[in-house]
Amino acid sequence: MSARHFLTLMDLSADEFRQLIQRAIELKAIVRNGEIHEPLKNKVMGMIFEKSSTRTRVSFETGMAQFGGHAIFLSPRDTQLGRGEPIEDSAKVLSRMVDVIMIRTFEHEKIETFAKHSQVPVINALTDMYHPCQLLADMQAYWEHRGDIQGKTVTWVGDGNNMCHSYINAARQLDFKLNIACPEGFDPDRELMAAAGNHAEIIRDPMQACEGSDLVVTDVWASMGQEEEQKQREAAFAHYQVDSKMMAQANSDALFMHCLPAHRGEEVSAEVIDGAQSVVWDEAENRLHAQKALLELLMT
Ligand code: CP
Ligand code: NVA
Repeated sequence: MSARHFLTLMDLSADEFRQLIQRAIELKAIVRNGEIHEPLKNKVMGMIFEKSSTRTRVSFETGMAQFGGHAIFLSPRDTQLGRGEPIEDSAKVLSRMVDVIMIRTFEHEKIETFAKHSQVPVINALTDMYHPCQLLADMQAYWEHRGDIQGKTVTWVGDGNNMCHSYINAARQLDFKLNIACPEGFDPDRELMAAAGNHAEIIRDPMQACEGSDLVVTDVWASMGQEEEQKQREAAFAHYQVDSKMMAQANSDALFMHCLPAHRGEEVSAEVIDGAQSVVWDEAENRLHAQKALLELLMT
């Protein structure tokens, strides 16, 4: 049987996504109660990072340790991947040794190629196109604070980037409406938008896009790999900072989310990210629990 991969949220069925959120909540309680649960005893995860990370690395490593397994951090600086060993060959070799592989890289095609040649599950830990693991954590956090997101309105403010793309997929899967406020020239992928139908809509004016919203989400203006565009992007996104005025357009019980790391004073004001509506620390913690639920689904 070929391995089951998780490259985008569309690799789950809508039911599996919902069940995964519930399982993540259970796994969180297990950790909080100090119970031992080791379904991956002696299993090993390979972790390939071609970009920096704090949350992703620590959550996967901790998750594997809590599950009774082990994780190996692999950076291109110290592996043959960084010296040009073909992706296909690396996938074949690594997947004969480890039981699951997590990859953070640039081009989405790279992880697709890797997965095609891997005997074991491959998990997308962020590509230029998607960040599906973050959405598992975000949707868990929404459920914990407000219950089912079905039928709710979510507003994405900022770049039509990898996080935005994963929110578009989540809107399709969990049946919510996603308003996307991005400046012209920074739209999300056209095909993804078309596939989402009525679930996603571009509303240029962020104040208007936040009206009646249950959740407001943003992310950095320049993602990893776009550092040299920082200045140009600061100008383009000048009116897209999520501040108290913008949050006031949303429903009074609206939540604020950001996958982190954040730049206070750029995409979000300190007042909002450190304020009462912000659940960013729960989102970050839930990376651990939601990814453990994902590992159970793919591996047991
Ligand atoms: N949100 C997120 O993926 O954080 P890291 O880049 O620290 O892993
Ligand atoms: N869009 C950001 C997310 C970081 C977790 C990036 O790709 O850098």
